[in-house]
Amino acid sequence: MLHQSDEIYAAVIGLRTVRRFLPQPIGEDDLIDIIEAARWTGSSKNRQSWSFIVIRERDQLDRLAECGDFTVPIRNAPLVVAPVQHPDGYEWDMGRVAQNIMLAAAAIGVGSCPITLHREDCARRALSVPDDHACRYVVALGYPDLDAETAGRAASPMGGRKPLDELVRYERFS
Ligand SMILES: Cc1cc2nc3c(=O)[nH]c(=O)nc-3n(C[C@H](O)[C@H](O)[C@H](O)COP(=O)(O)O)c2cc1C
Repeated sequence: MLHQSDEIYAAVIGLRTVRRFLPQPIGEDDLIDIIEAARWTGSSKNRQSWSFIVIRERDQLDRLAECGDFTVPIRNAPLVVAPVQHPDGYEWDMGRVAQNIMLAAAAIGVGSCPITLHREDCARRALSVPDDHACRYVVALGYPDLDAETAGRAASPMGGRKPLDELVRYERFS
């Protein structure tokens, strides 16, 4: 099938999580490009009821890593973006922000992994976020360590997707 942009389609379909990063910091220009993509995310009623916390200090990253159960990518990452949902914001919009961050990052050669902070109070404390704001999910970012990533994926193959006919229903659920 011919798409208007095969490149964009391939990027959307091909986005995979990266959990192993090179130690080098993310360049300022790359960071701004990623944050710009977050800023331009569409939101319900165009409220944009969110803030984006950029975390680069190792102490802060390690503190944040304590707040979830599967946070090794944060320990590996030079940078995390924590999208914070304000009280009048919507969860759906925050998912869109995360996906935009990840797609924009991939476009400029930066790998990413969404991370769950299962202990949200811990995350709020670490980031000084008010109680009525949400920050349950963050995105770990860094330039991919391709060798380690390939080896890691081979060791725990979790990828792939369910087939379309298992997922799609037409007109009604049943
Ligand atoms: C809401 C959400 C939370 C996630 N939380 C974590 C996490 O805490 N730790 C982690 O290593 N991966 C996390 N992931 C990444 C998923 O495991 C990953 O998207 C899934 O396995 C598919 O990976 P693939 O796109 O590379 O095939 C999360 C993904 C989503 C969408």
